[in-house]
Amino acid sequence: MSGHNVWTHKGTFLLAAVGSAVGLGNLWRFPYLTGENGGGAFILIYALTIFAVGIPIFIAETMLGRTSRQSPIMGMRHLTKTHKTSRAWESIGWLGAAAAFLILSFYSVIAGWALHYTWLMLTGSLVGADATTISAGFDALLASPGLMTLYHTLFIAFSALIVGLGIHKGIESGLRIMMPALFAILIVVLIYGVINGDVGAAANFLFTFNIADLSLEGWLQAVGQSFFTLSLGMGAIMAYGAYMSSEASLTRTAIAVAFVDTAIAMVAGLAIFSLVFGAGLETDQGPGLMFVTLPLAFADMPFGALVGGVFFILVLGAAISSSISLIEPVAAFLVERFDMTRPQAVTIMVVAAWAMGLLTVVSFNVWAEGTIFHALFERSAFEFIELLTNIFMPLGGLMIALFAGWALTQSEVMKELGTNITWFKTWRLLVRFVGPAAVSFVFLRTIPQVEGYVVPTLGALLIVGVFALSQRLRKSA
Ligand code: TRP
Repeated sequence: MSGHNVWTHKGTFLLAAVGSAVGLGNLWRFPYLTGENGGGAFILIYALTIFAVGIPIFIAETMLGRTSRQSPIMGMRHLTKTHKTSRAWESIGWLGAAAAFLILSFYSVIAGWALHYTWLMLTGSLVGADATTISAGFDALLASPGLMTLYHTLFIAFSALIVGLGIHKGIESGLRIMMPALFAILIVVLIYGVINGDVGAAANFLFTFNIADLSLEGWLQAVGQSFFTLSLGMGAIMAYGAYMSSEASLTRTAIAVAFVDTAIAMVAGLAIFSLVFGAGLETDQGPGLMFVTLPLAFADMPFGALVGGVFFILVLGAAISSSISLIEPVAAFLVERFDMTRPQAVTIMVVAAWAMGLLTVVSFNVWAEGTIFHALFERSAFEFIELLTNIFMPLGGLMIALFAGWALTQSEVMKELGTNITWFKTWRLLVRFVGPAAVSFVFLRTIPQVEGYVVPTLGALLIVGVFALSQRLRKSA
């Protein structure tokens, strides 16, 4: 039944996809990656990757959703039948569901920290606090499984409520209120940063073109980030695409999502680094930037408690609009496959992800070391889950690109794309070859042991394998 659901408005898919794309990846990860990797040079590669790899795969993923009009798992099952390909391609859906479940489990815990900081800011607890106090406060949060579980529970329950209300009353209405508010807050924080901070230093830090700083690693990170930030490769975009109006343009929508997502990342970077430089602080990397350095910058600024509080509400909102797109594909599957009601399906997905999230909670305290995960994988449970998602996402993206590029027929794709033959040919070239090659390299980098000559060697092997696979797909198309 839900398979035939379509968004109320032609533009809702765009809103939903932007909501999914804009999240912790933009507000926190993009700024520091850019600073670390040569500023302008990194942004150039990132933009190039978004265009050559991100946008084409985004189109492919949306297309698979819209042609099948079902949840990713059922949709791929349907497409493997109608295109007489191996049932194995259904794993695009299963892999995506697994990745969504795993990402949701830790995303909710991290977003819970923002809830803590919203509270601390708005109650004025951090006004005038010094560096030692603020960083001790963050350590205390991480040391408390109870407090972290409380925030994790509140965040995931609220996300579940929105998805449980359905795609119209819950997701659409929620996004229509949330997204404009988020843009407004971001502009306020940027203006505040320009007035109280050092926007010149921030712009310099972000946009100075220093090609020497850009390593191979930087290239690879740019590709990885373009994937993560567009929510690609795990069915979220496919699930939303299943509700997309047949009239909306795939190409124009994909370009718009990529543009808005990138613009928000850059504005957030400008605002954050203006404040950090204005307060004379270091551009520390990792979780510390948002939860220690930034609160410290706000602590001494006029109206810092209020604007800081509003900033963390922005982080929370961006995280919620992303987490609902993590719940949707799995919930939709449970409704379609087992005839559950939507609240039942959402409850099952969210309770399971909540329980899984407890592993992330304890990874920062009682299970910080000496567990089975450390013994087997040399990392905490949280880091292991993160590694798994970093493998599942590019793998899913690779398979989506191959399936859309080789198994779908020209007439099907032309009908979906609705454009001229030149763009069709360009797109198909990008998803058949360029995307898979780029993703293969990123994928290899996520395997920590692979270094030196092994990378190009395995990369070449992988490309040959991918090509062999694609020829089989083509025969069946
Ligand atoms: N794009 C999100 C961000 O930048 C993170 C993300 C990755 C995501 N994959 C996703 C969100 C799938 C929702 C669905 O924070």
